[in-house]
Formats: sequence, C-alpha cells, structure tokens
Amino acid sequence: MRITLAITGASGIPIGVRLAEELSEECELITVVSDSALRVMDEETDSRKQTMGVLKSLSEEIYREDMIDAPVASGSFRTDGMVVCPCSMKTLSGLATGRSSNLVERAGDVCLKERRKLVLVPREIPFSEIHLKNMLDLSRMGVDIVPPVLGFYFKPDGIDDMVDYIVGKVLERFEISKGLYNEWEGGKR
Ligand SMILES: Cc1cc2nc3c(=O)[nH]c(=O)nc-3n(C[C@H](O)[C@H](O)[C@H](O)COP(=O)(O)O)c2cc1C
Repeated sequence: MRITLAITGASGIPIGVRLAEELSEECELITVVSDSALRVMDEETDSRKQTMGVLKSLSEEIYREDMIDAPVASGSFRTDGMVVCPCSMKTLSGLATGRSSNLVERAGDVCLKERRKLVLVPREIPFSEIHLKNMLDLSRMGVDIVPPVLGFYFKPDGIDDMVDYIVGKVLERFEISKGLYNEWEGGKR
C-alpha cells in the first residue's frame, strides 16, 4: 500500500506524528507538511526540527506545501488514498471547493477526482455552520470525516491512549487493524 499523509496547521500535530509511525509500518508513506503545520509544531512538539526529522525518517518521501510538482500532485501517480491529520478548517474548505492552492489541497483533489480514499481528521471547536457544511459536502463525495473526538468507554489511561484511539479509528478507514484501543465487547450483564 502507498498512502499520503498530510499534516496541516490545526491543533493535534502529535496525532499526525503518531499516525505516521503506525502507517510507516504498514505502507509506503508519503508525507506532505503545510507551512502552518510547521508553525503549530513549534507550539505542540519539543521542536519543529526534531519533529520534521522524525517524519522524514518514517516517510519514503516528504514534501512542503509549495512543492506542487511532487508525484502526489498527479493522478497518474498511484496511491491507495490520503489522510489529512490534523486537518485545519482552511484545508477543509479548500478540499470542499476544489481550490488546490497548495500540494495538500492538490493531492486531496487528486484523490477526489480519481475516487480514491480520502480521510480527514478535522480539528476545531466549536464547528461553525460553514465548517459543518464543508464536512457534509465532502462526506457526500465519499470522504471519511473522522474528527478527533474523545471516547471513554475503552477506559483510556491518559493522553497517549486517547491519541492511539484516534489513530486506530483513522487506520480502520484503510482496513488496518492494529489493536490500538480495546474494542467494545458488549455490556456486562
Ligand atoms: C497554535 C495554533 C493552533 C491552531 N489550531 C487550529 C485548529 O485547531 N483548527 C484550525 O482550523 N486552525 C487552527 N489554526 C489556524 C491555522 O493554522 C490557519 O488557519 C492556517 O492558515 C491553516 O493553514 P493550512 O491548512 O494550510 O495548514 C491554528 C494556528 C495556530 C498558530
């Protein structure tokens, strides 16, 4: 499998990095990082440089948003789909309207036109009517909307478990099951 992971400038960079770790074990990973994601990395990771180093080591190829001649910008380059994690409301709107203003939006637009799997992890709170409308439009185009919403039924033991829960939910969209959280086995009677 070959999967594109785009990391954009929404809160939740650690979820994107954890997802990259798991995806790299399962597929050829191609990573695209937006300029704003680099800025958010400064806030949410120990250092932008270190985080980019980790992503580079996990990825077959890694691209910045202005590298619009990258292979993933073309439908002739075969992939098994793309995930945007975390996905900002700006990138969400760009995907909903076919804006293709950078490599993240273009690679997502390629998935839409080629009818390949596209999974978004949109992060904002609360969502505005525009955000919800964009998500509904994309969902109707076949896009999987997987917001990083907390769950408690699997008895998480801290933030790492919560992150793994979200990553597990994203991987399931690609039929990858890694047992990252305890599945619900029915209530005790
Ligand atoms: C620390 C920080 C956190 C942010 N968190 C979010 C967020 O959770 N969701 C969002 O839509 N935008 C968020 N933004 C704003 C986006 O980074 C901004 O809209 C940017 O233009 C998105 O560009 P991109 O989609 O090309 O990465 C955040 C910005 C900063 C600096």
